[in-house]
Amino acid sequence: MSIEKLTVFDFRNLASEPIVLSDNINFIIGDNGSGKSSLLEAIFYLGHGKSFRTSQVENLVMHNKVKFVVSARDHKGLQLGVAKDFGTGLTEIRIAGEKHRQLSQLAKNIAVQVITPESFKLFFGGPKQRRRFVDLGLFHVKHMFSDSWKEFSRILKQRNACLRSKADSETLSYWTQVFCQASVSVAKLRAEYINELSQELKPWLVLMLPKLAENISISYMQGWNSKKSLHDILALNKERELKSGFSLYGAQKFDVKFLIGNVIIDNQLSRGQQKLFLLALTFAQAKLIEKVKRVKPILLIDDVGAELDLNSRTLLNQAIEELDCQVIITAIDRVAVEPLVPSDNNYKMFHVKHGLISAIGNTL
Ligand SMILES: Nc1ncnc2c1ncn2[C@@H]1O[C@H](COP(=O)(O)OP(=O)(O)OP(=O)(O)O)[C@@H](O)[C@H]1O
Ligand SMILES: [Mg+2]
Repeated sequence: MSIEKLTVFDFRNLASEPIVLSDNINFIIGDNGSGKSSLLEAIFYLGHGKSFRTSQVENLVMHNKVKFVVSARDHKGLQLGVAKDFGTGLTEIRIAGEKHRQLSQLAKNIAVQVITPESFKLFFGGPKQRRRFVDLGLFHVKHMFSDSWKEFSRILKQRNACLRSKADSETLSYWTQVFCQASVSVAKLRAEYINELSQELKPWLVLMLPKLAENISISYMQGWNSKKSLHDILALNKERELKSGFSLYGAQKFDVKFLIGNVIIDNQLSRGQQKLFLLALTFAQAKLIEKVKRVKPILLIDDVGAELDLNSRTLLNQAIEELDCQVIITAIDRVAVEPLVPSDNNYKMFHVKHGLISAIGNTL
């Protein structure tokens, strides 16, 4: 879906009248501390039931208020909303007029991805963000993944509990057996997906990092040595696992590495190039989601001016034009977004001041 009308109420410093967005590109301009990131965070919350900035949901409600609301109507009339009341502790989710209990229901209707100045630091910093990124794509693109992952997580929990409680060897061996099977099915879906992502990534890299594109590849590590059976590896490491109380190998430990030639990308790219790379990767994923779901994914880009020079922003503009996606971009001034204005003038511009959002004319 793409969001047509958005209402954000008492979320961080935002308490605005509803705004009407373009289904193409939206620019959100405002000073430091005005509420730009908060607006993206509210949209992200609607798509994921969590924030990209904090794991503490109580930080999201406006100071001295008890309830926040984020709701949206898409361009086809579907209404989606979430409200969190810290007085009663209740979370209310409404999708097309029907009440739901689980935040995960939201993600079935809306595919939101975000890029912030921090995200590439996190992305190149450790496996957690990379895992999250890949699994988000998997969730939307491979419909079997959601059930496989749920089942896998349940088994992993059981097996870890066995390891911690030093359960008898028959019980542990049962859970090891099912754990291996579940790991293999999850790893297979991931391998298929990474393969599709690699293919889709190529044209985006050609557009955004033309000089490097040819030599960049993605290498997938499934969570254990792919030349050996997981069962054998676990048998060899039984003592270590019992000592640590956790499963040390398996689909939960997967990672992806990005390579230029045979060398890991992280230290070979400048910060601006890292950002372009991450944008290309996100665009590739958005494209895959769009193909499968036949819905427009929503792409949030926070503080676009950071790290990107004029040339890079022009490349980004070309890429966004290629992408059939609703894009919401923040910047501290209009000058930063000038190179991103689409040639067909199909965009909207908003100004944020002290948490109030207002539409402004398109003339730059
Ligand atoms: N729970 C809250 N209630 C009220 N205000 C809050 C809350 N949490 C954060 N704020 C304030 O909201 C304001 C907006 O923050 P936000 O991060 O959205 O700004 P921004 O426009 O993205 O700024 P920058 O350009 O510096 O990134 C800040 O002044 C912040 O202190
Ligand atoms: Mg910000």
